[in-house]
Amino acid sequence: MYDFKPAEDAPKAETYRELAASARALVEGEADPVANMANIAALIWQFVPRLNWAGFYRTAPGELVLGPFIGKPACIRIPLGQGVCGTAAQSGQTQLVEDVHAFPGHIACDAESASELVVPVRHDGMVVAVIDLDSPETNRFDAEDAAGIEALARAVAAHIAGG
Ligand code: SME
Repeated sequence: MYDFKPAEDAPKAETYRELAASARALVEGEADPVANMANIAALIWQFVPRLNWAGFYRTAPGELVLGPFIGKPACIRIPLGQGVCGTAAQSGQTQLVEDVHAFPGHIACDAESASELVVPVRHDGMVVAVIDLDSPETNRFDAEDAAGIEALARAVAAHIAGG
């Protein structure tokens, strides 16, 4: 049994430090990328409030393919450069979208999603996956959320590559 819990009322930066540390502990010594992505998606869900979707898309030739996640069933394949996820993967840049309806080419997987944060996961100089967080609240994510998920991506990259 794993019992990772976010500290109540902790500052956001502290919650993200705990999230990254918990993720590191979970993936350490485990070589299976799917198992690791599944546990990390569950951890994000537990640590980050006000989400309706959290999980991974993995880089494949020319496209992203759905990985482990929590939320409603989602689009399986996203061409690189399309939508928020495909833009993050192709550019290698975090995408922080305050209002998905204003993002040209946004791909609606869950009609409830109003804002979105997508962070590329880099390993050996390549984007191997993206971490995608959706919220039903407009403007849910800020620079601290982006920095927190970027730190998480760095902490786990080597343990999810190849999945
Ligand atoms: N909205 C994303 C698609 C993935 S879902 O949000 C889970 C996009 O535009 O890439």
